[in-house]
Amino acid sequence: MKNGYMVLDPIETISGDLHNHFADDVRRGLSAESKSLPSKYIYDDAGSNLFCSIMDLPEYYLTDCETEILRNKAGYISNAIGNGGLNLVELGAGDGKKTKIILDGLLKKYDDVTYVPIDISEGAIHLLLAKLESEYPLLKVKGLVTDYFAGLCWLSDLDLSRNVVLFLGSNIGNFTPEEQTMFLKSLHASMNTGDYLLTGFDMVKDIDILERAYNDTEGITARFNMNILERINRELDGNFDTGLFSYKSYWHHGEGAIKSYLVSRISQEVHIGALPMTCTFEAGEAVHTESSYKFTEKQILSLAESTGFTVENVLYDSRWYFADCLWTA
Ligand code: AVI
Repeated sequence: MKNGYMVLDPIETISGDLHNHFADDVRRGLSAESKSLPSKYIYDDAGSNLFCSIMDLPEYYLTDCETEILRNKAGYISNAIGNGGLNLVELGAGDGKKTKIILDGLLKKYDDVTYVPIDISEGAIHLLLAKLESEYPLLKVKGLVTDYFAGLCWLSDLDLSRNVVLFLGSNIGNFTPEEQTMFLKSLHASMNTGDYLLTGFDMVKDIDILERAYNDTEGITARFNMNILERINRELDGNFDTGLFSYKSYWHHGEGAIKSYLVSRISQEVHIGALPMTCTFEAGEAVHTESSYKFTEKQILSLAESTGFTVENVLYDSRWYFADCLWTA
């Protein structure tokens, strides 16, 4: 354990294609007839910083809605899950702002709480722990740098204390429906019976509100998506000129998702030295970079049922834009 965190080997077999094989995935995605790049690669340090800026945008209502739910329901959540001796395990903790609301609620009631952030990025864990150390000097923290499943298996082998898993911010919505099911089933398999899961879901709503959230006037969401091309330039010796691409994002009714694309402004060739590969783009050709699935309550309930979870409660904000769902394994 190094400064309150530990680096574990990821579990390749369980998490399968949720893993990072950047070069292979870029080659595959850009050779396909409909080009695409997996959104998980947007999140290097630069992409994670841009996502933090997105969370502060007035158009990106998701963060405010979830913060409202957690503020109003922190007491309820503590009562529902707590009797001390628990690990608060967070998958992809980010800047920890929302977690602090839950931590404050739990620490008001119980002393025996250990916070366990799990993130694949050592930098993110390091930063979060430094922040928490100054604000909560007495809190026990065990950061894990690894994938979610390896972290949970490590925890369930370690002791018999109960885990409360947080997967906030509608991160689940960036998986396809098949990946959502696979992810939740794997998560269920790595939790102990009686452990809790609190997951954020963004609800289906007015199309204008949805599309505005992904097409902000400052262009930060566009830069966030462009970061995947910049990352290919940085890490795979690519020569993308991001000025020759535009960003488009729209509601896809058939899929129930906002879909985001980078569209080539002209006909062009791009070389990626580390693969090596030369990729041809027609003028107007789109590269799919991200899907953000939105949910109905019916879909949420059926997802819980099909992955083995029991629904304890669905907590909404005052506009019913967003739901945090409390499930038990
Ligand atoms: C992280 N995830 C839930 C965000 C979303 O809403 O799909 C990522 C994002 N992409 C553009 N804006 C925010």
